[in-house]
Amino acid sequence: MANNSKIAIVTGSAQGIGYAIASKLASNGCYVIIADVTAEQGEASANQIGNDRATFVQCDISQENEVQSLFRQVIASHGRVDIVVNNAGIIRDHVIWKMTTEEFDAVVRVNLRGTWLMCREAAVQMRAQKSGAIINIASRAWLGNPGQTNYSASKAGIIGLTRSLALELGPSNIRVNAVAPGLIDTPLAQALPAEVQAKLIAAQPTRSMGKPEDVAEAVAFLASDHCQFMTGQVLYVDGGKSIGAGV
Ligand SMILES: NC(=O)c1ccc[n+]([C@@H]2O[C@H](COP(=O)([O-])OP(=O)(O)OC[C@H]3O[C@@H](n4cnc5c(N)ncnc54)[C@H](O)[C@@H]3O)[C@@H](O)[C@H]2O)c1
Repeated sequence: MANNSKIAIVTGSAQGIGYAIASKLASNGCYVIIADVTAEQGEASANQIGNDRATFVQCDISQENEVQSLFRQVIASHGRVDIVVNNAGIIRDHVIWKMTTEEFDAVVRVNLRGTWLMCREAAVQMRAQKSGAIINIASRAWLGNPGQTNYSASKAGIIGLTRSLALELGPSNIRVNAVAPGLIDTPLAQALPAEVQAKLIAAQPTRSMGKPEDVAEAVAFLASDHCQFMTGQVLYVDGGKSIGAGV
């Protein structure tokens, strides 16, 4: 790790979009903390990126004490936190009349409360440093998706959180933005029946699925010094689906 490396925490980066974000930030010269609830895959992902550029810390972001401990460990080791990417998220899909209260609570607890807990610790440290960038991973689904009342609400909450936090932290030279991915080619999408995949792709203005790397590029831009005057924004990486026009 170079002395001038930026220190980045990426939650939920043992796999999927988070892993692509961690890899991209590491290849841009950051030292990355892979913070994930899953230990085995998290360790493997840190090894894959390289132990001089990444390390794994086990953390369930929905647990206040684990989030506080994560920040304590990172600050003890590195003295600062320059970039926090709140990517960890879960789904528990059902139409509302079949959704249990537990499914609602689980999604809001991880996606919204977990992201808020991470933002609070990041704010304390970054205000002391007078610098930092926070990127929250929302979803195009915040605009509405049948079967996802819990998930849409949690992601809409993340956007409200992002905008309010940008106002609170702007005076301390800290930027807070969100990325809203659309249909991304992850194991989740690959698990859908072929005809469902085809239907979803046909509804995309680009007639394509995005790749985890497409999301990572947007996050890397928002984390970089090339975007000093952008805060409180939502950047869509969704093949144009959020435009909402008929296709
Ligand atoms: N895949 C898509 O098409 C898509 C679209 C829009 C938004 N998103 C969002 O992007 C993010 C990543 O999605 P993905 O498809 O890569 O998901 P994924 O399920 O492949 O990976 C999620 C990661 O988060 C970790 N995680 C889950 N709960 C956690 C917790 N409580 N604490 C810490 N880590 C936890 C998991 O262990 C896993 O490594 C999520 O926030 C998701 O809502 C995904």
